[in-house]
Amino acid sequence: KNIVILISGGGSNMAAIVRAAQQQEWARRLDARVAAVISNKADAQGLVFAREHGIATAVLNHKDFDSREAFDAALAQQIDSHEPALVVLAGFMRILTPGFVNHFAGRLLNIHPSLLPAFPGLHTHQRAIEAGCKFAGATVHQVTAELDVGPILDQAVVPVLPEDTPQTLAARVLTQEHIIYPRAVAHFLRHL
Ligand code: GRF
Repeated sequence: KNIVILISGGGSNMAAIVRAAQQQEWARRLDARVAAVISNKADAQGLVFAREHGIATAVLNHKDFDSREAFDAALAQQIDSHEPALVVLAGFMRILTPGFVNHFAGRLLNIHPSLLPAFPGLHTHQRAIEAGCKFAGATVHQVTAELDVGPILDQAVVPVLPEDTPQTLAARVLTQEHIIYPRAVAHFLRHL
């Protein structure tokens, strides 16, 4: 069962999934492997980790395309060449067209750094602090055409501390993301 992961930056969630797929028993049993990591940015740090771990990488720069549709079509073609059972968005900072989402319907996951349906979109940690939330967290969900909506597969909760800045809260949430995302991937593949 091939997994393709899309990133734009640090790729720490991607790294957590790669490690799990290379080391954990469920991956062996399900014959699951990360077949490729694709980035829309050539300088995404995560690409280095992927290459060091023997994973095929590709870069598809959205600026090389005239439209969102053209970029998404090329991206879908690149992904399809790996015949994935599952496509994982891990800090992939592009809004995807309905055509793309429909093409991968039912096998497209995302992680969002808030307790959805609270705080879809950007700057989630700052908004949680400003709203006076006592708890924050992260959500793994299936991707549907609407941004940050779609069936919720897993969530993790962390406290918001009085001295938190968006950065300290983000770091606390991110450590939980690294736990729930590989777990959700395993669960999803097991129930395919
Ligand atoms: C994560 O917080 C993810 O939820 C958000 O962007 C961040 C990506 O981090 N969408 P990384 O690239 O996985 O390290």
